[in-house]
Amino acid sequence: MELERTRILFVCLGNICRSPLAEAVFRHLVRERGLEHRFHIDSAGISGYHAGEGPDPRSVATARRRGIVVEGTSRQLTRQDLDRFDFVIVMDSENLSGVRRLAPAGTFRARVHKLREWDPHDPGGDVPDPYYGGPRGFEGGHDI
Ligand code: 4NP
Repeated sequence: MELERTRILFVCLGNICRSPLAEAVFRHLVRERGLEHRFHIDSAGISGYHAGEGPDPRSVATARRRGIVVEGTSRQLTRQDLDRFDFVIVMDSENLSGVRRLAPAGTFRARVHKLREWDPHDPGGDVPDPYYGGPRGFEGGHDI
């Protein structure tokens, strides 16, 4: 019998910088552990500004330097996602507000968390939006 997959959706504003990177890192960690069959992994943006576009080249380069491939096409988060996924992992408080605008807390299935709830260096902090900054914005933070 196939076990039910845990469904995880990473969310940022544009779905071209942070959430595709988080998705790729998570996929990488899952693959390293041989657990691909246990997860369904995706990412989406609060906004549809970049819907249909590939990941930001700066995210791709940051990941490639660590042997991680970032792929996918930007899409906007939908109300349905909040029932289809078990976990929605947002990058910052603004994303959290965006989810709440889509649907009030308690009216959907997914459990929503900020990524940095698991960061011992900055528990519950924001993953800063790197879009308008230089390439260093993609390298900051704490390496896994
Ligand atoms: P992301 O970065 O939310 O990490 O994908 C951004 C990408 C685009 C914009 C903002 C943030 N934008 O305003 O177009």
